[in-house]
Amino acid sequence: MIRPHDDVTTSSSGILGRIKRRQLLRLGFLGGTLLALGEMSALIYPFMKPNKIVGLGAKVPVGSTASLMAQFQSTQDVPILNTLGRFFLLHPEGGIIAAYRKCTHLGCTVPYVAAENRFHCPCHGSLYNKKTAVVEGGPAPKPLQLFHIAEQNGTLIVDTNPLNVIDRQKNEWDPSVLEIKA
Ligand code: FES
Repeated sequence: MIRPHDDVTTSSSGILGRIKRRQLLRLGFLGGTLLALGEMSALIYPFMKPNKIVGLGAKVPVGSTASLMAQFQSTQDVPILNTLGRFFLLHPEGGIIAAYRKCTHLGCTVPYVAAENRFHCPCHGSLYNKKTAVVEGGPAPKPLQLFHIAEQNGTLIVDTNPLNVIDRQKNEWDPSVLEIKA
């Protein structure tokens, strides 16, 4: 049987219509999936992203040995405060150390008091030497703890991880703790 010309057109356009609908559905599904994946990534990314540590716990660059020594020389060894890292750079004989400014009595933040030429804890009056952070008076049982310092490409880096400190038990200056000699 020979179909009229019109019939062929109608049936082929029906097939075309169905194919287009299927393609549209597939595209819609793909778009929806991509959108959902995008949203999930946006939600998960903040948890996956490594946090950059700032302040206490970070590795803090403090300049070159030469520049710090020049600063100590010009100020007659006034401790150099790093507020964010919570430490002072000190100049004991023979090098540079970084003292964690947390009082070894009960943990108050210890300031350097220029008028007294030493550290003086405001909480219960512990006193520490300005060059070595060894106890000079008050209830503190031991010197201020020291952060490790390393030299990388000419810059000193202070590691302010409070779980990895040099914890001096004897209240006397011991040059063997010096990591940066100058
Ligand atoms: S916390 Fe510093 S003297 Fe008590």
